[in-house]
Amino acid sequence: MIDISKLSDKEVDEKIWEIKEELKEDLFIPVHHYQRDEIVQFADYTGDSLELSRVSAGTGAKFIVFCGVYFMAEIARTLASDDKYVFIPNRSAGCPLADFAFGEDVEYVWEILQDIHPGGYIPITYANSLADVKAFCGRNEGLVCTSSNVQKIFKWILDREKRVFFMPDKNLGMNTASDLGMENDYCIVDRYNQDDLNIKERRIVIWNGFCIVHKVFTLDHVDFWRKKDKEIKIIVHPECDPEVLKASDYSGSTSRIKTMIEQAPENSKWVIGTEYNLVNRLRMNNEDKFIEPLSKSVCVNMSKNTRRDLLAALTSIQDRDYSRQVVLAQDVTRDARKAIEKMLEIS
Ligand code: 13P
Ligand code: SF4
Repeated sequence: MIDISKLSDKEVDEKIWEIKEELKEDLFIPVHHYQRDEIVQFADYTGDSLELSRVSAGTGAKFIVFCGVYFMAEIARTLASDDKYVFIPNRSAGCPLADFAFGEDVEYVWEILQDIHPGGYIPITYANSLADVKAFCGRNEGLVCTSSNVQKIFKWILDREKRVFFMPDKNLGMNTASDLGMENDYCIVDRYNQDDLNIKERRIVIWNGFCIVHKVFTLDHVDFWRKKDKEIKIIVHPECDPEVLKASDYSGSTSRIKTMIEQAPENSKWVIGTEYNLVNRLRMNNEDKFIEPLSKSVCVNMSKNTRRDLLAALTSIQDRDYSRQVVLAQDVTRDARKAIEKMLEIS
């Protein structure tokens, strides 16, 4: 057994390449755009949440080592067949946004909504949520969405003359309502706050949670860059506050941001409001353009996965020790899969 703590970074990297070479197509490493560069170099695929869900569902590999946060590895676990093993390099890489909505709190509010408009709502959970919240959606004819299909999924529900119950990201919910011209047709709830008068009237009910990484961006940051140079275009992630989104030029998922920057003309100027690891990588890989972060904001959870954690996960696979794998209860897997598959079908 190797002692990883005694290896230099270079030796760790060499060992990871060796194991990748040895496991070949039995191993698949999907990597989210917010991961550190030291992890991205080993990616078999990099993408946003929706793309990573799709490729994880489609891989033939026996071992999936998901480099992202825990809910992403859980999605891969949910979609993978029973003969596959899913790992995350660092199991403490959670998503604080997901923790805003516990399953029991969501069920509590759901009961209240059922009293107000019986059978009137379809629940949608953002992918950034706990597995039991996804399972709740699956049990109640609901589904999952990501930042790249949220509008489509809201519309899918509204076209069925149903009301939306969306959790847990307030900003994504409000920004989507606003994109659909329904700025005056939503209300915000959580277990401890339900403004009954508003709920009855509104077609969109949104959970009161937020992402600490995107909450950092303010209108002052936008004003700073606007004053600095009129040619700068600002693109942000839809987890930002609505006022920031409105003051920006574009918004989109991490992959949309990446594609827009890569396809932008030479010498164009960009300021990006999302997680710093992605912004910095875009800056390094697009030297023909001016690229700056709206402000520096790091997702410490995404950054918990290090090359050493990745090597530890890979050596445990080599040693046939699967005790670190991501495990979900059978009933949660069954119900959550329904909600995720519905999303994949629609988008
Ligand atoms: P994307 O689906 O846009 O990759 O976003 C995931 C995320 O966690 C953003 O904070
Ligand atoms: Fe969660 Fe925000 Fe980190 Fe994305 S950036 S993983 S939403 S905490």
